[in-house]
Amino acid sequence: MNPPVLESLADKLLEKIRQRPEQYFDPVKLSENLKTTEKNIIAAISLLRSWGYSIKADKEGRYAFVAAPDSFLSAEILHGLDTRLIARKIYSFQTIQSTNAIACQLASAKASEGTLVIAEHQTRGRGRLGRQWYSPKNVGLYCSIILNPKIHPTLAPGISIMTAVALADTIASYDDMEIKIKWPNDILISRLKVAGILTELSAEIDRVEYVIVGVGVNINQKRADFPAELREFATSVRIGAKEKIRRVEFLQIFLKNFEKEYILFKKLGLREARKKFLKYSFLHNQEVKLKMGRKLIIGAVLDIDEFGRLVLDTRDGIMSFNSGEVTTH
Ligand code: BTN
Repeated sequence: MNPPVLESLADKLLEKIRQRPEQYFDPVKLSENLKTTEKNIIAAISLLRSWGYSIKADKEGRYAFVAAPDSFLSAEILHGLDTRLIARKIYSFQTIQSTNAIACQLASAKASEGTLVIAEHQTRGRGRLGRQWYSPKNVGLYCSIILNPKIHPTLAPGISIMTAVALADTIASYDDMEIKIKWPNDILISRLKVAGILTELSAEIDRVEYVIVGVGVNINQKRADFPAELREFATSVRIGAKEKIRRVEFLQIFLKNFEKEYILFKKLGLREARKKFLKYSFLHNQEVKLKMGRKLIIGAVLDIDEFGRLVLDTRDGIMSFNSGEVTTH
């Protein structure tokens, strides 16, 4: 059996046996049911086990589903995911340089809106302002979503804002933690960074061609897992929630929240997301320094506007800014 056909059989077999966990299925009956041979069923079981599924066998050679791995396999992400647009098509990798880079290539080749690119590990995770995003294996979430909103490029920063809200809501669904968003899109738990968003854009002067929303979340790291240089700035959902997190479940909650915010954004712009953003805002009413290249602006944070810009009360009056790095002291 060639590999893609075997993979598709494994997906169908999984669908069937996971409906009744711990219940034994006879391979001959399964082969009749799935219109294949017993030998292929056995090969598909081996393949599923190699993907990390726990499947037990009894003395009669029957198989029972025990547990699914917490890995970002397409089948796992799609299992029970009830989004309509987001992540209906998934590209899942073990190791790649950057999910944003792959998503850009796919978007240029006209991949469909909502396509999700995800990896267990990135060797060149991109961060904002030319930085790197630390992306160790099997503990984080590194993904990119392709969008094709019919909007003017000036509205595109709003997508980072709505993504930050979807992410903050996702983390908030776990435990009573102090979750804040630091403009434009750092997510903090107890003042330490747990997630970041990198939005990349391809646009003409008056029209967005595509937007890539890249999301990186520290999920299951323990404090000692962070390299020394990150330890005093970074945290994870696990540290905040005081429990190990099922990453696939976290992703599914996020995708659902993201879809909800994106639909609202397309209808109403930032009207709804802004309210939530302000509720989570780390900087609200604070005196801040905004660094834009070599320029340093000091002012008090008043708001974010409908373009997602930071509104500051500065010495030179009230001004809005669409990029830069903010510090509070
Ligand atoms: C930041 O600097 O805060 C933004 C970090 C964004 C990292 C994510 S990880 C998945 C996606 N692919 C990348 O290369 N970067 C983003």
